Amino acid sequence: HRLVIEKPFGRDLASAQSLNQVVQKYCKEHQVYRIDHYLGKETVQNLLVFRFANAIFEPLWNRQFVDHVQITVAETVGVEDRAGYYESAGALRDMLQNHLMQLYCLTAMEAPNAMDADSIRTEKVKVLQATRLADVHNLSRSAVRGQYNAGWMKGQAVPGYRTEPGVNPNSSTPTYVAMKFVVDNWRWKGVPFYLRTGKRMPKKVSEISIHFREVPSRMFQSAAQQTNANILTMRIQPNEGISLRFDVKMPGAEFRTRSVDMDFSYGSFGIQATSDAYDRLFLDCMMSDQTLFTRADEVEAAWQVVTPALSVWDAPADPNTIPHYEAGTWEPAEAELLINQDGRRWRRL
Ligand code: BG6
Repeated sequence: HRLVIEKPFGRDLASAQSLNQVVQKYCKEHQVYRIDHYLGKETVQNLLVFRFANAIFEPLWNRQFVDHVQITVAETVGVEDRAGYYESAGALRDMLQNHLMQLYCLTAMEAPNAMDADSIRTEKVKVLQATRLADVHNLSRSAVRGQYNAGWMKGQAVPGYRTEPGVNPNSSTPTYVAMKFVVDNWRWKGVPFYLRTGKRMPKKVSEISIHFREVPSRMFQSAAQQTNANILTMRIQPNEGISLRFDVKMPGAEFRTRSVDMDFSYGSFGIQATSDAYDRLFLDCMMSDQTLFTRADEVEAAWQVVTPALSVWDAPADPNTIPHYEAGTWEPAEAELLINQDGRRWRRL
């Protein structure tokens, strides 16, 4: 027998722990398949190949060369007809604690001893255990939530979250969340990871971008010479692919610089994208392969990281304290501040 459980697994650390206890009373861990459909996405699996099948990137994948990392999952849809579920979940439970944190784990973890389920999941747990919100005593410096107001999407007026069918008109459920993680280990000490996800954003785009450090001496800084740090981007969807941004000299007598992209697109394989993420995962489940499913300790470790934010946001409060953003625009101003305070900015997508 196999037990397949859809995310979110629990609604906080305590409920995930008790759910694990109940499940483990009836099943062995090898029978339990906790689904996170992001792990079934082709480009997410490719992260492992990209990192561990190529010798040239891994030496750069650390605090010596990386300034910071951004992980974005932006959606254009609103709550749709799922208010019944979404009202009690919100963006942190629905997206960040699972989908974004899986992307985070695959980006930040150490190389596993082998490509089998337990070796990979053990590395994910290890990096989660070293991860924490940047400043738990001053939450606004490490976590921001938001909720969409009415606005415009592709020339169409769309309602605000609170007036969507089935939503409490005083709801403080977040439809956007951004967090700043820090990692207490040798590889990442001092390198922040900024994660953000929201509904009713201007574009549907999921990507991971690795922002490298500036060169030690900026020789090309003038009006015509604006050099930029290198960025490696992994596009999860749409237009799946990988690109590396670097600076070149513009042709001509003047010494002008410009950023260009070296780009790989999955489309260039000319092969129809593989099956839906769930098809892939169900097949793996039938074949007893747990690599793309989350383990009990992994889910709990992920909840542990976001617990300081949940405990503040879940406490009864004036519903008007939640920041808002207009549907069809990027994050609320508070989320800009979250990253701007560090002298960085969100990548324009
Ligand atoms: C689901 C969430 O897990 O993922 C939805 O419950 C979200 O709210 C969806 O819209 C996004 O998935 P995808 O594959 O479209 O990025």
